[in-house]
Amino acid sequence: MDTPEQLSEGIESWNTAMLLYNSALKEVGTKLEILNDEFQHVHQYNPIEYIKSRIKTPESIVKKLKRNGYESTIANMMEYVNDIAGIRVVCSFTSDIYRLAEMIGKQNDLTVVWVKDYIKKPKDSGYKSYHMLVTVPIFLSDRVVNTKVEIQVRTIAMDFWASLEHKIYYKFEGNAPEYISKDLKECAEIVSMLDAKMLSLNQAILEAKKAEDDKKKEQES
Ligand code: GTP
Ligand code: MG
Repeated sequence: MDTPEQLSEGIESWNTAMLLYNSALKEVGTKLEILNDEFQHVHQYNPIEYIKSRIKTPESIVKKLKRNGYESTIANMMEYVNDIAGIRVVCSFTSDIYRLAEMIGKQNDLTVVWVKDYIKKPKDSGYKSYHMLVTVPIFLSDRVVNTKVEIQVRTIAMDFWASLEHKIYYKFEGNAPEYISKDLKECAEIVSMLDAKMLSLNQAILEAKKAEDDKKKEQES
C-alpha cells in the first residue's frame, strides 16, 4: 500500500503527465490546422476534412500495460503506451494523406519516431490508415519535455469502415462470426475501390476545369 506521500507524488506525476499529453494534442492540432489553412491559401483547397483528438482513458491505459506485460506505473505508461495522446485526421483523398504526412515530416520541431503505412500494407482485418508516432517539445516553466502523439491519417471511407469494424469488434469481443469478418473484408475492398475511383474522378474534374479555364483565357486574349 502506498504511503500518503507516495500517493500524492503519484497523483502529482499523473497530473503532470496528463498536462503534457493535453498540451501535445493542442500543439499538434494547431500545427495541422495551420498546414490546412496554408494549403487553402496556396491551392484553394483543404486537404483535411476534419480532425478528432482524444486522451486515452486511465482504464484503457492500464489494460494496454497489462496486455503487454507491464506493471501499471506512470513511468511505464509514458515509456510504453504510445497512443495516450491520439489525433485522427480525416481527408477526402488518399493523395491528401501522403501530402499531409510529408508536410508533418518536414516540421522541424516535430520528431517522427515511426510510420506504419497500413494503406500500402493493410492489416488482415482489412484495416487501412496511415499512422505516425511523433514527439513534440512541450515547454514547461523549468524544462522541455518531448511528448508522444499518435497521428492516424485516413480517408472518410477508411474512417467509416474503421468505425463500423470497431463497433462490431467490441460487440463480439473480438470473436465475430466468420461471415461477418468476411463481409467486413469485402467492404474494405469496396472502400479501396471507392477511394481510387473518387481520386481519379477528382483528377478528371480538375483537368476538365483547367482545360476550360485555358480555353477562356485564349478566347479573351
Ligand atoms: P494497439 O492496437 O493500440 O494496441 O497498438 P498497436 O501497437 O497494435 O498499433 P496499431 O498500429 O496496430 O494500432 C493502433 C491503433 O490503430 C488502434 O488503437 C486503433 O485505433 C487502430 N487500429 C489498428 N488496427 C485496427 C483494426 O483492425 N480495426 C480498427 N477499427 N482499428 C484499428
Ligand atoms: Mg493493434
